[in-house]
Amino acid sequence: MNKTGTRTIETDRLILRRFTEDDAEDMYKNWASDPKVTEFLTWPPHPCADFTRELLKEWISKYEDGDYFNWVIELKEIDQVIGNISVVHFDERIEAAEIGYCMSSAYWGRGVMPEALRAVMDYLFDVVGLNRVAACHDVNNAKSGRVMEKAGMKLEGTLRATGRNNQGMLYDKVWHSMLKSDREHM
Ligand SMILES: CC(C)(COP(=O)(O)OP(=O)(O)OC[C@H]1O[C@@H](n2cnc3c(N)ncnc32)[C@H](O)[C@@H]1OP(=O)(O)O)[C@@H](O)C(=O)NCCC(=O)NCCS
Repeated sequence: MNKTGTRTIETDRLILRRFTEDDAEDMYKNWASDPKVTEFLTWPPHPCADFTRELLKEWISKYEDGDYFNWVIELKEIDQVIGNISVVHFDERIEAAEIGYCMSSAYWGRGVMPEALRAVMDYLFDVVGLNRVAACHDVNNAKSGRVMEKAGMKLEGTLRATGRNNQGMLYDKVWHSMLKSDREHM
């Protein structure tokens, strides 16, 4: 396995790159302050841009770690940052990663996140050398499951009452994944 950390990835419409502190205002404005975005997430909307900036400082300090993967999503056509995709859990022992993502509601429905997820999976399999990439969503957030499917992940199943959302409520998690061997048969 190669612990290459967060390197820039380019796709047709997107640049996935490391956050900088200058992204704080746009991150706050475009997605982190929006309750529509956080409806099915474990964190509540950010209260102010300073909160976002402090969080980014913490994230940026981790970029030195080769097993820290956290990209801001830049949409080339508008030259602005509109979302985030990251590894939320990395398990070296089984060469596996769990992915999380969210983005500005202004750009939902244009296939942006499936494009980002496919690119991140390619990176994690081909460059880092992982065996498994997985993601899960609240059973009520089927749209996110569709993103996983469109990116080529397979449905694994539902684990009941295994998550707690930002309202403090328990929810069922639906899991999808892709294995290195799945790609060999694609
Ligand atoms: C989930 C999210 C990342 C989707 O990103 P996106 O770039 O808009 O994804 P897409 O453009 O592929 O659109 C979503 C797909 O889900 C489908 N969809 C929409 N609502 C749906 C629903 N209620 N049930 C099932 N599928 C649904 C759309 O039709 C589309 O599929 P299609 O292209 O086959 O028609 C985005 O909505 C988001 O950031 N949500 C808030 C944060 C979040 O929920 N993150 C995931 C946590 S697990």
